[in-house]
Parts: sequence; C-alpha cells; structure tokens
Amino acid sequence: MRGIVKTYRGRKILNEVSCDFVPGLTLLVGPSGAGKSTLLRLVATAERPNRGSIEWNGEPLPGARSKLRQALGYAPQAVDLPDDLTAREFAMHMAALKGLDLAAADLQFAALTERIGLHADINNPIATFSGGMRRRLIFAQAMLGAPRLIALDEPTAELDRETAERVGAVILERAAEAIVIMTTHLADQLAPRAVDVLRIDNGLLASSRGGGGEEAA
Ligand SMILES: Nc1ncnc2c1ncn2[C@@H]1O[C@H](COP(=O)(O)OP(=O)(O)O)[C@@H](O)[C@H]1O
Ligand SMILES: [Mg+2]
Repeated sequence: MRGIVKTYRGRKILNEVSCDFVPGLTLLVGPSGAGKSTLLRLVATAERPNRGSIEWNGEPLPGARSKLRQALGYAPQAVDLPDDLTAREFAMHMAALKGLDLAAADLQFAALTERIGLHADINNPIATFSGGMRRRLIFAQAMLGAPRLIALDEPTAELDRETAERVGAVILERAAEAIVIMTTHLADQLAPRAVDVLRIDNGLLASSRGGGGEEAA
C-alpha cells in the first residue's frame, strides 16, 4: 500500500498509510475505531481507497484485483451468515465461489473444524450457532484452499482462551507460508511470533518489528 487515504463522511480514517505486507504474521493493533477493520477491507478489496495505490505482487490494482482475490482468504469482523444453511453447506458454497475442488475442500473443512472444536456441529443449521461458533465458521471458510493472502478481523473474539489458542495455532502454521494480517485481542501473546506489529492511531500507521515469525511447533 502506498499513500492510502480512506475517508468516511469527510473524516480521514486512514491518512497516507504506506506499508509492505510480507509472508508471516502481521498483527494490526490500535484503539477501537482506529481503522483496523477499514484497513483489512482495503486489503481484501471489499472497499477502495479515496487516494493511494495498492499493489499485489508488484502489479497495481484494479488490474491485479482478480489475482489478489484468487489468493485471498478473508474473515470479516461482522458478517450475516445464512442461518438456514448448515455450517458445512455454507463452507461448501464458499469453496465453490473460490473455485476449489469440493471433495478436497470438504475434507479440509472437516480437519480444520476438528482442530478448532467445531466439528461436532458442522451439520447443524447456523441458526443454532453461538457467537463463538459463528466466529470459528467465518475463520474456517477464510482458510479454505491455500490462500497466500489471509486477512483475519478479530477471529478470536468471543472465544474462550483455550479455543482462541487453538485458532491461533492454525494461524501460526499458515503464516509459515502465507501473508497473514490480523487483528486480535491475543496480540500480546502472538507478538513474539509476528514478523511485524502495525499500530494504527489517528489515521497513521507505525511499525514495530516483532520477534520471530518461526513456524508453529
Ligand atoms: N462504512 C462506514 N461508514 C462510515 N463510517 C465508518 C464506516 N466504517 C467505519 N467507519 C468509521 O471509521 C472508523 C474506523 O472504523 P473501523 O475500521 O471499524 O475501526 P476498528 O476496526 O479499528 O475498530 C470509526 O470511526 C468508524 O465509525
Ligand atoms: Mg474492527
């Protein structure tokens, strides 16, 4: 991103933000309302900046937008899930939209949900899901396929500590290969494993390099 400006109702939420995102875990921190979700929506091409440029693999958007989307796994902070579908049906819809092999995606979804404690419920309607179960489903669909760019907006919200740590372990594993950009209340715990910690405050971005980026045990 270069010189990104994002304005809502005349108010600059992001002000001349420039950043390179690299493989590994990048944590996005900052006070509530700072613009973390806004930045992730720009990364995910769910919104466009008012000014500035975004490149994917050295190719500018909008030309490279479809290539970026093919490489993308995105878990938005707030999303309405289709209550009448089961979790598995929803995941398979997402897999179809991503153009994935459905048999392979089904196996991957089963393995992912097993790890994050959702597997027993995947054939139940989403209508019966708690907030924490919905979070995990949104997370799991973002991880389907082998996305090289993963944007996760509060994937550990509403989760108990143990479950949040299970989700964190999956994220760290993926961050060995993919660019993972996330906001989380577990930022303090994950910071030593991050390649970068970006703080948004008053529309500006400050970077403080994290410790490692080594692969999860
Ligand atoms: N679609 C929108 N329309 C108007 N204002 C918005 C919109 N989305 C976000 N904002 C405002 O932009 C600011 C940053 O929001 P957000 O990116 O959600 O922050 P964070 O995720 O860091 O809590 C907030 O003041 C929020 O009210
Ligand atoms: Mg947010």
